[in-house]
Amino acid sequence: MARVTKHPDHRSADRTDPGRRSPDTVDLPVASVRAHSRAFGRNQVLRSVDPDIAHGEFVALLGRSGCGKSTLLRSLARLDKVPAGEVEVRGRSAVAFQEPRLLPWRRVLDNVALALLNTPERGDRFARAEAELHEVGLDDKLGAWPLELSGGQAQRVSLARALVSNPSLLLLDEPFSALDALTRIEMHQLVIELWRRHEMAVLIVTHDVDEALALADRIAVLDQGRLAHTWHVGPRRDDRAPSNPEIARIRGEVLSALGVQPTPPRADAGAHTMSTQGAA
Ligand SMILES: Nc1ncnc2c1ncn2[C@@H]1O[C@H](COP(=O)(O)OP(=O)(O)O)[C@@H](O)[C@H]1O
Ligand SMILES: [Mg+2]
Repeated sequence: MARVTKHPDHRSADRTDPGRRSPDTVDLPVASVRAHSRAFGRNQVLRSVDPDIAHGEFVALLGRSGCGKSTLLRSLARLDKVPAGEVEVRGRSAVAFQEPRLLPWRRVLDNVALALLNTPERGDRFARAEAELHEVGLDDKLGAWPLELSGGQAQRVSLARALVSNPSLLLLDEPFSALDALTRIEMHQLVIELWRRHEMAVLIVTHDVDEALALADRIAVLDQGRLAHTWHVGPRRDDRAPSNPEIARIRGEVLSALGVQPTPPRADAGAHTMSTQGAA
């Protein structure tokens, strides 16, 4: 894959806030991966991949089931041990998975506050957790038990728990796959709002091309252990209707890189025309 150490337009025109990062750090990628390989026994999963993620960039990673997407995400999240020098993440990272993974015996506020237990912000963790739950629209659920939540609400708590530490890199592993179509569209809008507000980079693993087209600045396809293909998604997020020729072109190319015959976009792929507060 072409290495992208600096994305001239990663803070593309459709961002509402140009960001307040210092000039010293703005050009350094938030994640640098160099010739990173992973194998489980004789199963060679990643073969010398080298994706960089720019500060504030929104990247979608696609690939067929079992191709190593979660393995790469786990390397970036430092959930697995990786050889020194292959993966560098500047600043904090946080992860949210397809399953919200909430502790059922802790109330919602506690679940989020727990993420700060071993950080310098420990003393402030409940106030921060409350603010984060407000941001994801769950003011009225602070005292709820996880089992009382809908799937979408539980996933919002999971997002709040990831964001409460103010990560520079948010890693999302198929976070919306288990949600119904309408909830998924709401979550797309929410994640774009959160991405803007937090000025962080996001890597989302998804098997859904339309989700990737709705959300990302850049789409990468992992195939046979290599990041062979990458696309920059140029149009503003409120101009990504399937009828947009550039969107249609990228969609066709991504599907064909995945070995799938292009089909019409799903009827619920409403995030293509996402428009939140006038800018998307
Ligand atoms: N901890 C593990 N031990 C053994 N094999 C694993 C482990 N984690 C993943 N794999 C294997 O690595 C390959 C890639 O898995 P994964 O990264 O989860 O794929 P994806 O997320 O793209 O569906 C699969 O063949 C999977 O069985
Ligand atoms: Mg996976």
